[in-house]
Amino acid sequence: MTSAKKILCIGAGYVGGPTMAMIASKCPHCRVTVVDIDPERIAAWNSDELPIYEPGLDQLVAAARGRNLFFSTDIEAGIRENDIIFVSVNTPTKAFGLGAGMAADLQYWEKTARQILAFSESSKIVIEKSTLPVKTALAMERILNSRVNGVFFDVLSNPEFLAEGTAVRDLEQPDRILIGSRETESGLKARETLAEIYANWVPREKIITSNIWSSELSKLVANAFLAQRISSINAVSALCEKADADVTEVARAVGMDSRIGAKFLNASIGFGGSCFNKDILNLVYLCRNYGLEEVADYWESVVKINDYQQERFIRNMLGAMFNTLAGKRICLWGFAFKANTSDTRESPAIFVTRRLLEERAEVVVSDPKALKNARMDLAGSAGRVSYVEDPVRAAEGCHAIALLTEWDLYRHLDLRKIFETMEKPAFIFDGRNLLDHRRCFDIGFNVYPLGKPPLTHF
Ligand code: UDX
Ligand code: ADP
Repeated sequence: MTSAKKILCIGAGYVGGPTMAMIASKCPHCRVTVVDIDPERIAAWNSDELPIYEPGLDQLVAAARGRNLFFSTDIEAGIRENDIIFVSVNTPTKAFGLGAGMAADLQYWEKTARQILAFSESSKIVIEKSTLPVKTALAMERILNSRVNGVFFDVLSNPEFLAEGTAVRDLEQPDRILIGSRETESGLKARETLAEIYANWVPREKIITSNIWSSELSKLVANAFLAQRISSINAVSALCEKADADVTEVARAVGMDSRIGAKFLNASIGFGGSCFNKDILNLVYLCRNYGLEEVADYWESVVKINDYQQERFIRNMLGAMFNTLAGKRICLWGFAFKANTSDTRESPAIFVTRRLLEERAEVVVSDPKALKNARMDLAGSAGRVSYVEDPVRAAEGCHAIALLTEWDLYRHLDLRKIFETMEKPAFIFDGRNLLDHRRCFDIGFNVYPLGKPPLTHF
């Protein structure tokens, strides 16, 4: 066990909240405070209804909150009173000016750096947790160490690799913890201080260190590699549909090669989430910035295939449903960008809904956890959208079901009963290849899986 430490996290989002809950749980001798500018978010972290849904998180927070885990809006006091500061504020894609649509918007991050500088009365370790462009730590060091008052800041990069839906497990048993630092005496000491915190529950051999730029870049590259696998299998799914091959069979055969591996080879309507799109665009921007046009084009194609896959899904629906969706009722099973989360950021469901509305379809959105976010995402959309949590009721009177999120509950529904309540001919478009397609067909549905021949009654 290491000495007691006072830890602050700025930003109580999907990364900051769960990560700090895990540190508090595994390091009962440390005091962990999480601050945010959003008072509603902090109130939710202090309530029985946390601001995010994540399996196992409620129990983790409940056990530590009030003991050595605190949520607060007092950023100034937080900075003053703590020695180790994680920065986990949002870094969305820039929506304006130079690099719009590609580069990371660093305004929240820079504001935080300036706040740390303004309120610090003693030297501190500042840790980048948010995913940032390479060399951001340099900018952070320059801002933080711009005042000559005896206060010194060591900046570390410690990217978070957790995936939503499995965050608690990923935090408890990470594949690796990466800590990047300056290779100065003070940088190495700061690196060890952080490593000691993780060593409370993570085996030492899994805590790896590197120079600070490698650490920043590793996070972008890890996400780019993961997303590239999905775009690769999705590109193959389009080919399978033309060649009467089955993408699941191809993925199994390919994935059994131990050099390739079986994970992340599920064809889908496309990847979503707050990271993949943003981080690849960030990488592309970075490459272009360094004049590496070919490298930038290579990574950009991953995003292009992802957009293509979503558009292809809509075109397949249109083609199957006699080239018109106008006035037809389409039920969406799932709106979250993946199962086991309420998060809808960059969810393909947003694109699919907008395109369906453009085709003048009526959309019924169903999801067990994400309806609140879905309502916000679609607030400005013109057209007829309704929200029904129960997937069975949502499908009533619909012409088609489009399965967009791989929630396990969709595997266990009474499809015969659902079929009876739908308009005929009834269609299922399985954007996750989750259902038993043969069974759906036998019940009477026209079934359109991804990357497999459709099963139709005409
Ligand atoms: C990702 C990274 O996995 C994580 O390491 C990083 O810290 C943040 O970004 P996350 O976005 O939470 O995590 O979820 P992930 O499980 O990676 O899924 C991302 C998207 O890819 C989802 O839309 C998911 O449905 C899709 N996906 C994943 C597929 O379409 N097929 C697959 O085989 C796997
Ligand atoms: P992530 O998925 O990276 O955790 P989120 O958007 O879920 O991103 O969370 C980021 C959090 O950071 C939000 O709750 C936001 O209110 C908070 N935030 C942004 N800027 C600041 C700031 N200057 N000070 C404190 N919190 C901030």
